[in-house]
Amino acid sequence: MIGKLNHVAIVVPDLEQATALYRNTLGAAVSEPVDQPAHGVTTVFVELPNTKIEFLYPLGAESPIAKFLEKNPGGGIHHLCYEVPDILAARDQLKAAGARVLGDGEPKTGAHDKPVLFLHPKDFLGTLVELEQA
Ligand code: CO
Repeated sequence: MIGKLNHVAIVVPDLEQATALYRNTLGAAVSEPVDQPAHGVTTVFVELPNTKIEFLYPLGAESPIAKFLEKNPGGGIHHLCYEVPDILAARDQLKAAGARVLGDGEPKTGAHDKPVLFLHPKDFLGTLVELEQA
C-alpha cells in the first residue's frame, strides 16, 4: 500500500539555526519558512535527492507541537510521511486491520496541499505516521 517516503519531520527549537545547520553544515537545499496557520506550525523543507526533511516550528499558542518541544527541548523526529495512491482506500484498509486513525478520520489538507491522515504511533512501532495522497 505505501509508496515513497515523502518526508521525515523534525520539530526544531530554532528555525534559523536548523536552516543554517542543513544549508551550511550539511550543504542541502533548504526552502524559506512558510507559516501554516491551519496547522499551527511554520515549516521549512530540505530537498534531498530521494526525499525531503520537514522542519516544524510552533506557530501560535495552540500549536499541536508545543508539547512535543516541551518534552524534547532540543528538538526531535516527529513523524514519517509515506505516500499512498488513494488515501480513503488506505484509511479503510488500515481501519479494517485495527489501526487507529487520528482525529475524525477524515483527510485534512497537508503542507503540500494534498490530503493527509495521521496514524496512531502506538499502532506503528512508536512512530507517528502521516499518509499523503501522492
Ligand atoms: Co508531515
